[in-house]
Formats: sequence, structure tokens, C-alpha cells
Amino acid sequence: MSSNWVEACAASAIDEEDVIRFDHDGQTFAIYRSAEDEYFATDGLCTHEQVHLADGLVMDDIIECPMHNGRFNYKTGEAKGAPVCVNLRTYPVKVEGGKVFVQVD
Ligand code: FES
Repeated sequence: MSSNWVEACAASAIDEEDVIRFDHDGQTFAIYRSAEDEYFATDGLCTHEQVHLADGLVMDDIIECPMHNGRFNYKTGEAKGAPVCVNLRTYPVKVEGGKVFVQVD
């Protein structure tokens, strides 16, 4: 399946510059709302040690892992420095009718 859009949450459920956890079909995602009111999704677990990124801190384009303060750009998934070196996977997101949808595999 290559275009499997799933409803994740209400758009209003995420504050600006914040992140929530979303579990679907055994997979964990992190869904972000930027300061510009755009939405993004990545894998929910840090690529360093499988910690939930939704417990971390959003600053500008960055999600900071709560465990060892590893940083990723949540818009591109790019790992931004030690101890994280493996990029995060990102997923397409759309907002329709006040709801956030994520395109999962
Ligand atoms: S678990 Fe995320 S930086 Fe170590």
C-alpha cells in the first residue's frame, strides 16, 4: 500500500511549536505543528535509543530528544548532531476538515 492516509488527531490537539505521539498499527509516529501553523510527521522513536520523541522539546525546526538531547530537523528528518547520526524518517501530512492525516505505509 503506498497511499494509506490515516486520521491522526484534531488539528487543534497540537499546540503551535509542539509535538504529540500517534500510534497506528504497531508503529509510533510523532506529529508536529510548527510556529507557522504547518504540520509534519516523523517516526516517533529516536534513532539513537528508541525513546519517544513526543516527550521532547520543539524549537523552531528542531525536535530535541528527551533522553540525550539529540536533535533532528523534524521537517526533513535530518539528524543534527551527536549522539544522533541516523536521520529520522518523515511522512506526508495533510490537514482536512480540521483533522490531521498522516500517510503511512
Ligand atoms: S535516545 Fe535520543 S538522543 Fe539518545
